[in-house]
Amino acid sequence: MEVIESVGGMQEVALGMRRQGLCIGLVPTMGFLHQGHMSLVQRARSECDRVIMSIFVNPLQFGPQEDFAAYPRNMERDLALAREAGVDYVFTPTGASMYPEGFSTCVEVGGAMTEKMCARSRPGHFRGVTTVVMKLFQIAGPDRAYFGQKDAQQALVIRKMAADLNLPLEIVTCPIVREADGLALSSRNVYLSPAERETALDLPRSLEVGRELVLKGERRAEQVRSAILGHLSASGAIRVDYVVACNGQTLDDVAELQGPVLLAAAVWVGKTRLIDNIYLEV
Ligand code: PAJ
Repeated sequence: MEVIESVGGMQEVALGMRRQGLCIGLVPTMGFLHQGHMSLVQRARSECDRVIMSIFVNPLQFGPQEDFAAYPRNMERDLALAREAGVDYVFTPTGASMYPEGFSTCVEVGGAMTEKMCARSRPGHFRGVTTVVMKLFQIAGPDRAYFGQKDAQQALVIRKMAADLNLPLEIVTCPIVREADGLALSSRNVYLSPAERETALDLPRSLEVGRELVLKGERRAEQVRSAILGHLSASGAIRVDYVVACNGQTLDDVAELQGPVLLAAAVWVGKTRLIDNIYLEV
C-alpha cells in the first residue's frame, strides 16, 4: 500500500493506472475508519483492479459552529486498517493543497434534494460535499466510486451531480453496517457517553417501528412519520432534528408511500448529531 499526500502525485499515479487499462475504485472518507468504511473497500476490491481510499476531513462541509476541529482523527490506525483491508493507495491531502489561497469554485446540486433534511440544519453542507467529491473524482479518476447508504441524502446528491454533469463513472451505494444492537456505525459514535450510547439506540428502533408499520400495510406517509416521531419523542434524552417518510429516490414528500421509500431521521443525543435511515421497496 502506498500513501500519497500530494494532489499532483495522486493524479499522476491514477493517470498511469488508467493508461494501463486498470479499473479504479475510489472510496472517499474522512477517516477514523470503522467497519462501515471497510465494507465500501471490500465492495470496491471485489469490483475493481485497484482501490484508492481518500482520507480528508473536509473543512468545506462543516458549518462554523460544527465539529471540524474536534472531528476524531487517527491516521496511524486508519493506515493500518486500510493496509489490512487491501487498499492499494491512500490519498491524504492537506487542507492547503485541496483549498489553496484563492480557491473559489464550488459544485452545487440545486433543487429540493439539497434544501431538505440535513440541508436545513447544515446550510452549505452538501455544497461542501459535492465540491470535495468532484475534486476527488478529478484527482483519482475512478471508474467506480463507493458511498454508504448510511448517508442516504449524500449518496443521492452525489448520484445527481454525476448524472447532471455526465461524469464518466459509476456511483455505487453500499448497505448500512450496524453494531449488533442496531446502532449504525459512525465516526461520531465515539462522542457518546455510555448513557448516551444507550439512548442513541432509540434512533434505529424508531425507524424499525416505521418499517413495521409499512410492512403491516400502512401507506400514509404522515402516519408512519408520526409513529417514528412518537417513538423518538418518548425518549426525553433525544432532541429530534427531522423525521421523514418520503420517496427514496427523489426525497420528494409524498402522501402515499409507494415504490422506493426512505424512512430517515436526524437527532441530537447530548451534543452529538446522529443520522440513520431505512430504505424500503413497497
Ligand atoms: P465519512 O463520514 O467518513 O464516510 C465515508 C463513507 O462511508 C460515506 O460514503 C459514508 O456513507 C460511508 N459510511 C459511513 N458509515 C457507514 C455505515 N455505518 N455503513 C455503511 N457506510 C458507511 O461521508 C463522508 O465521510 C464525507 O462526506 C465524504 C463523502 C468523504 C466527503 O467529504
